[in-house]
Amino acid sequence: MSSPPSPLASALDPADWTRGPIADIFSSYIAAAALSAAHELGLLETLAAHGDALIGGDDIEGLDAAVVRQLYTVLSWAKIVEISGDDAVVPGPLFDEAYAARGYFYWLVRGCGQVFTDAPSLAHRQRRTGNFFERDMRAVAIGSWLIGDAEVEGLFDQIIAGLPVRKVADFGCGSASRLIRIAGNNDAVECVGIDISADAVRLATDNVAAAGLTGRIAIRHADVRQLEPIASHADIDTLTCVFMGHDFWPYGDCVRTLRRLHAAFPAASRLLLCDVVRAPETSRDMTIFTLGFESVHALMGVYIPTLAEWQQAFAASGWECEVVHPVTAPPNGVLFELAPTAGASHDGAPAPARPGPGTGNRRP
Ligand SMILES: C[S@@+](CC[C@H](N)C(=O)[O-])C[C@H]1O[C@@H](n2cnc3c(N)ncnc32)[C@H](O)[C@@H]1O
Repeated sequence: MSSPPSPLASALDPADWTRGPIADIFSSYIAAAALSAAHELGLLETLAAHGDALIGGDDIEGLDAAVVRQLYTVLSWAKIVEISGDDAVVPGPLFDEAYAARGYFYWLVRGCGQVFTDAPSLAHRQRRTGNFFERDMRAVAIGSWLIGDAEVEGLFDQIIAGLPVRKVADFGCGSASRLIRIAGNNDAVECVGIDISADAVRLATDNVAAAGLTGRIAIRHADVRQLEPIASHADIDTLTCVFMGHDFWPYGDCVRTLRRLHAAFPAASRLLLCDVVRAPETSRDMTIFTLGFESVHALMGVYIPTLAEWQQAFAASGWECEVVHPVTAPPNGVLFELAPTAGASHDGAPAPARPGPGTGNRRP
C-alpha cells in the first residue's frame, strides 16, 4: 500500500537525490537489464569475439537499430562499452569483468526478474500457496551454466578425471552443459540428466542433440525428490547436483531425499553436490549474486542452508562428507564430495528431528 509523501522527504532539495548514490541505484538497475539483454542478443559475444561492433546494430538481422543503440548507451554509462564516433562501439574499461559476470545478470534479470517485480504480492502469506511465483527456467538454466563455467566446471573436470566414472546422473541438469562436457571428455561415459522444469528439459534435449550426444546422454523430466529405483539407474556410479541442492530443503525433506538416493541409485559410490550456502553475514562490501540469490529464494519460500546445516543433513542421511571445496565464483559456493556411509539406510525411514534450533526445519 502506498503512503502519502512524508514531510521529511518533500523538504529535501531535489538536488540532493537527483544525482548521487540514489540516482546511481536507479541507473544500475537499467544497466543490469541492458547487460542481460546484450547477452541474450549476442551483442557481448560480438564485442568479445571481434573487438568492435556497429552501434546501430545494422549488422544483426532483425534488430531495431534504436533499441540496440540505447542498450549500448546504457552500457557506456556503466563503462562496459565505449561509443566511438557515430557508428562504432568497442569494449570499455569494465568490459572483461562484465563479460565474465554476464551469467549473473542473465540469471537475475531474465531468469528471476518477475519474482522481484511481484515482490509486493509474494510478501502476502495468503498468496504463498501452489505455484505462486514465476521464473524463466530456460534463462535460469543458461545463467547457471555461465555462472558455473568460471570455476565450478573446472573443479568438476579435475575431480572426475581422478575417478573411475562410467555412468553419471546429474540432478537439476538445467542446460545439460555439465553432462555434455563430461561425455565429451570421457568417451566411455553414459549420462542421465534429470530436471523438473519442462523448459529446462527442452533446452537440455536440444543442447544434447546439437552436441551429437543423444545416444549417450538421456534427459528425463522428473522431480529428484520423488525418484524410485528403476532399471536404467541401477548401474549409475556417480551422482552430481549443482546449484539445486537447496531445493531439497527444509531439513527433514532434505534428509529424506538424500536417503532416498541410496535406494534409487544403489550402485552410486559418490555424490558431488555443489551449491551456494547462506552467507554468514550481510556487509556493505557485498559480493555479486549474494543479495539476489538470497532475496529471490526468500521470495519463493526456498530455504538456503548454511554450510553447517548441510553437514548435519549429510550425517543424518548416510552420506559421508569426504572433501569440502570452497569456491569463489559463485560467492559462498561449496562443492561437497560425498560417499555413502557403510550400511547407509536404503529403507526410506523417517528423517530424524533436526538437531538444534534454526529456520531450516520450517516448511516454506
Ligand atoms: C539453478 S538451476 C541449475 C542448473 C544446472 N545444475 C547448472 O549447474 O547449470 C537449477 C535447476 O534445478 C532444477 N530443479 C529444481 N528442483 C528440482 C527437482 N526437485 N527435481 C529436478 N530438478 C529440479 C530446476 O528446474 C533448474 O533447471
